[in-house]
Amino acid sequence: MDRIAIVGGSRLKGDIAISGAKNSAIKLMAASLLTDEPLRLTNMPRLADTRFLANLLRRLGTEVVETVGPDGPQTVLHTPEIVSSFAPYDLVRQMRASFNVLGPLLARTGHAKVSLPGGCAIGARPVDLHLKALEALGAHIDLNEGYVYAQAPRGLVGARIEFPFSSVGATEHAMLAAVLARGDTILVNAAREPEMEDLAECLNAMGARVEGAGTSEIRIRGVARLTGASHAVIPDRIETGTYAVAAAMAGGEVRLTNTRADLIETLLVKMEEAGVEVERRNDGLTIRRNGARLQAVNVETDVFPGFATDLQAQFMALMTMAEGESVVKETIFENRFMHVPELARLGADITVSGGEARIRGVDTLQGAPVMATDLRASVSLVIAALAAKGETIVNRVYHLDRGFERLEQKLSACGAEVRRISGPEDGGD
Ligand code: EPZ
Repeated sequence: MDRIAIVGGSRLKGDIAISGAKNSAIKLMAASLLTDEPLRLTNMPRLADTRFLANLLRRLGTEVVETVGPDGPQTVLHTPEIVSSFAPYDLVRQMRASFNVLGPLLARTGHAKVSLPGGCAIGARPVDLHLKALEALGAHIDLNEGYVYAQAPRGLVGARIEFPFSSVGATEHAMLAAVLARGDTILVNAAREPEMEDLAECLNAMGARVEGAGTSEIRIRGVARLTGASHAVIPDRIETGTYAVAAAMAGGEVRLTNTRADLIETLLVKMEEAGVEVERRNDGLTIRRNGARLQAVNVETDVFPGFATDLQAQFMALMTMAEGESVVKETIFENRFMHVPELARLGADITVSGGEARIRGVDTLQGAPVMATDLRASVSLVIAALAAKGETIVNRVYHLDRGFERLEQKLSACGAEVRRISGPEDGGD
């Protein structure tokens, strides 16, 4: 398994082009199952997660062709016919969001058998809201031996679905199913993350009638069929925020291009409070830090437009060397502090109590071998390592590869000393 070695201490200077959003791309790929015509997705990130889903889609009957077009990396997905409505455990467990094929399979063929995704390192992550939404649309759902058996032989029917709390995945899943339902659907208390608008825009380009995505009420008028379309994936706001924090941690000046500052405004305000200079531009943003020590700032994760849980670990890494004490509160997932013991190996001073981490800024971090535990936790170790003295080796880089495209190239192009070491990691599981 690959590892990443980082020698800290270099200031960063240069440009980083942000890729298309992983968490949007994988839902858009699932949307391709809704039509027998080709869906062309441009600005596609090339990641382990998109590969996992492509493998599953191929099993279901999708031809997946990845090329580099005039607008950069693109993927054309074409499912003339669903050859199987079965998503096996082995493929779904590799990537939770594979579960989102359930709705489109059901909408297009009237039946599906999809493995439950199971829990994961950051929390239990149930899918009850997804299933309730599909049931509200008229699906008959049975759970047996770890599988969801869903049937809607006469098709799905529009409904009013009130979510008890905001769920990104359940809102997307309901949208993916309701676009082909008969009649109108209203999603109340829908998630407002920017990926909702991206999915709605793509579905509308395919002939769907979705309004209100990005607000807490989404209205969908079902249509009989969808067509092919071409759609550009929204920039990855988590990758944007991650490199913004990395630049602040290492110091220097980094221009993030092919992205939008408004996608991470809450993070940017917190970074400014801490003493980072942020310049918002039309095609992205520039992050500057001249070397002065940052100040401790508190954050609390929340649904969009609040502080993203997917940026919590990275911000905590930034706070490890700030002046004073900061409190980072996690409210979305129950177990999302696995980076804390690893940051402590680098010399960070953090105590966790319930959903709150208290970080007392230290003067120096010291490189050490550390272990990636999940996608965003692992990148927080890279960020800390950029400012640590000496070398840090991040083991289990496959977590990083799930969601960060060419991370070591993007950082080294700005002067960071980062390299990938191929081969078996030292130390076992
Ligand atoms: C999406 O997960 C993202 N994943 C996550 O990013 C992100 O952290 C999360 O949204 C919150 O922004 C993808 O888009 C693939 P939720 P999702 O449903 O859809 C509970 C990353 O690193 N819940 O909004 O699973 C749930 O347990 C990943 O890229 C239920 O109880 O998040 C959580 O506590 C990690 N029942 C809360 O709701 C349900 O049926 C919010 O989860 C669904 C969710």
